[in-house]
Amino acid sequence: MNSNNFLTVDDVAKTLKVTRQTVSKYIQKKELNAVKINKSYRVSYKEFENFLTTNSIAAEPETLYLKKSRNCFLDYSDKLSESEILNSRALGLLRPIESNNKELFNRLIFGDNYFVLKSLLDDYRNKVDLIYIDPPFGTGQDFANIDADHAYSDKLVNSEFLEFIRKRLVLLRELMSEQGSIYLHIDKKIGHYVKIIMDEVFGYENFINDITRIKCNPKNFSRNAYGNYSDMVLFYAKNRDKNIWNEIKEPMTKDELEEMFPKIHPKHGRYTTNPIHAPGSTLDGDTGKKWNGLMPPKGRHWRYSREELTRLDMLGLIEWSGNGNPRKMVFAKEHKGKKVQDVWEFKDKGLSYVEYPTQKNHDFLKRIILNSSNENSIVLDCFAGSGSTLFVADQLKRKWIGVDNSTHSFEVIKKVFKKEKIKCNYFEYVPLD
Ligand SMILES: C[S@@+](CC[C@H](N)C(=O)[O-])C[C@H]1O[C@@H](n2cnc3c(N)ncnc32)[C@H](O)[C@@H]1O
Repeated sequence: MNSNNFLTVDDVAKTLKVTRQTVSKYIQKKELNAVKINKSYRVSYKEFENFLTTNSIAAEPETLYLKKSRNCFLDYSDKLSESEILNSRALGLLRPIESNNKELFNRLIFGDNYFVLKSLLDDYRNKVDLIYIDPPFGTGQDFANIDADHAYSDKLVNSEFLEFIRKRLVLLRELMSEQGSIYLHIDKKIGHYVKIIMDEVFGYENFINDITRIKCNPKNFSRNAYGNYSDMVLFYAKNRDKNIWNEIKEPMTKDELEEMFPKIHPKHGRYTTNPIHAPGSTLDGDTGKKWNGLMPPKGRHWRYSREELTRLDMLGLIEWSGNGNPRKMVFAKEHKGKKVQDVWEFKDKGLSYVEYPTQKNHDFLKRIILNSSNENSIVLDCFAGSGSTLFVADQLKRKWIGVDNSTHSFEVIKKVFKKEKIKCNYFEYVPLD
């Protein structure tokens, strides 16, 4: 009997999202048929599927463990179950090919990311804080650099492409830490299908944003269509609201600053003023009493305690109008910037300015990495391309792992790292047949 065809009690418990004890009860009551192999129980895939079908209220077995979160899912042929993806082993190993520093964490791995991710599961399960991936978009094309050197192929289309992505997403979810996030970059032709796949893998409740990224200058083509100058980035957490979030603000433009802070203070520069009272009256409290000979306007109370108002006034931070109306001064230099919204403009450089086709804008990656990881977090990009994610992660003092199966990508990354003096340990995935 081949133990690869069987699930352990732990596998069954995890898939059903129940405890081991519950699975043991199913086995004892003979609701789930299991066999003993090496003193522990194992359940064959067939038996498990029968169990799911018998106990599911829906026609498709997979929906048993999805019904709790009310996810919908895409149905297509040759779709593997999650347990098949997770339980088949990668029969190969990660072989070091060049080591800059044995102590060093950062690594670039050459190989098909499906097998590489499986191999990484042994050491990095639940450890990766941030994943950014920019996979091929299911375009059916080949991509080359400006000198026509082949970079990578994007030949899988439709459901083959979706299953390719889904299999990797299932493994990536397992690698993500409990505070982890994933950003998936995709175009708008296939992106909406990928959203449904991501809802299925990560849970609809863990979806955070669909970010529209303006990628290039407006287009003026002659097709009967609007110009498409944006793509999308789907952002999910492993656990919504537990994800690392550093609330990085966006600086205001000069025009915005001038509009918001129209006055100029001789010493402190641009400023505006805000009322020192807020809606709601307090009958007995300090903020409802007379301050500096003034009562708060009817139906309102002082926004600060009267002691604080006196302190601000003595510091010259209260501006009195000609008719004796006090307002608090707020300075542009203290403004922390504005909340980032879900439309971002980070254009990529044209093919003649980059080493690798589809190379992404570094400032765009900087925003993602700063917001959703901390120093020393592990950042993973398993469609590394030119290594832009790894490069930016390194600059921001994150640990990182990159994977790509294109020799051109590997050469480009090595060249950039050498030039920028970035230390990295290089590996390749070697299948063992
Ligand atoms: C769109 S490019 C990524 C570009 C990258 N974000 C950048 O800024 O340079 C997609 C990359 O995925 C790689 N890739 C495609 N399928 C892969 C697979 N199965 N395993 C590993 N890498 C793969 C390709 O070789 C290509 O370099």
